[in-house]
Amino acid sequence: MTGVKETTVVKETGEADGIAIHVAGLHKSFGALEVLKGIDLTVRRGEVVCVIGPSGSGKSTLLRCVNLLEEPTSGSVTVAGTEVTDPDVDIDRVRRRIGMVFQAFNLFPHLTALENLTIAQRRVLRRDKAEAVRIGRDTLRRVGLSDKESAYPAQLSGGQQQRVAIARALSMDPELMLFDEPTSALDPELVGDVLAVMRALADEGMTMLVVTHEMSFAREVADRVVFMDDGVIVEEGGPEQVVSDPVHPRTRAFLTRVLNPAAARVGEVPDTGPHGARIDR
Ligand SMILES: Nc1ncnc2c1ncn2[C@@H]1O[C@H](COP(=O)(O)OP(=O)(O)OP(=O)(O)O)[C@@H](O)[C@H]1O
Ligand SMILES: [Mg+2]
Repeated sequence: MTGVKETTVVKETGEADGIAIHVAGLHKSFGALEVLKGIDLTVRRGEVVCVIGPSGSGKSTLLRCVNLLEEPTSGSVTVAGTEVTDPDVDIDRVRRRIGMVFQAFNLFPHLTALENLTIAQRRVLRRDKAEAVRIGRDTLRRVGLSDKESAYPAQLSGGQQQRVAIARALSMDPELMLFDEPTSALDPELVGDVLAVMRALADEGMTMLVVTHEMSFAREVADRVVFMDDGVIVEEGGPEQVVSDPVHPRTRAFLTRVLNPAAARVGEVPDTGPHGARIDR
C-alpha cells in the first residue's frame, strides 16, 4: 500500500463491500516455530464467526494479529477497510474501532465497575465525564449490571467481571468485537450469563469473531464456524455443517474429542485448552 489517497480508496471499497475483517495469506512465526501457516479469512459486517480448534492451533495468535497485538510475519490484515499491516497505519486509531475481550478480565481492581467503563472513554475518546458516565451506565444496563456500578471487581463474580469487561469494550463504540475464550475461566454456572450477553450482541448485529470451546454457542449463534488445526483453516462453513456434520477427518476427530471427553483414553493429551469444551448449555 502506498500513499494516503490509495488508503482512502481501499477504505471506501472495504466498507462498501460490507467486509469487517479481511485476512489474506497470514503467516506468523515465533522464532523457528511457524504458528500461522497461511490464513485466509473474511468476516462480513454483522456476521458472527466462531473459531474452534485444538490448543496450540493458533486461534489466539490469529485474533492477536487482527488488532496487531502480534505483528504478522507476512500477509495482510484489513479491518473495516483499513489495512492494519500497512506500516504507515495509525494502529491506535484502528484499535479504537475494535473491542477485545479476553479470558482474563483485566479490570482495574481499584476502580468501580462504572469507573472501569469511563476511564478509557475519557482518556482515549476524550469524552467529558457526564457523557462517559451516561454511556457507561447505558452499557452496564445492556449487560444486566445496572445495580453493580459502584462495586469493585473483587466484589463481583467472575461472570459479572467478564460482563463488565464486555461493557467496557462496548462503551468505546466498537465496530467489531474480538472474543478470545471469554467464558473458559468461569465456573460452569456463570458461563450462561456471559453467553447470553454475547448472544444479545449478535442479535443486535454486532460483528463478532469469537474463539470458543462452547460448541452449543457456536452452533446456535455463529453464522459461520472456522475449524483451525496446526496453523491452518481446515474447514469452514455453516455451524450445522461444521459442528454437526464435519467433512474433514481432523474436524471430526476434534469434535469427537471435545463432545465426548469421557471417551478419551488414558495417556491421551487433552487438547481442548485448559478448560475443555462444553456443549451442555
Ligand atoms: N509470544 C509467543 N512466543 C512464542 N510462542 C508463542 C507465543 N504465542 C504463542 N506461541 C505459540 O504459538 C502456538 C499457538 O498458540 P495460540 O495461543 O495461538 O494457540 P491457541 O489455539 O489459542 O491455543 P489455546 O486453545 O490453548 O488457547 C503455541 O505453540 C504457542 O506456544
Ligand atoms: Mg488461545
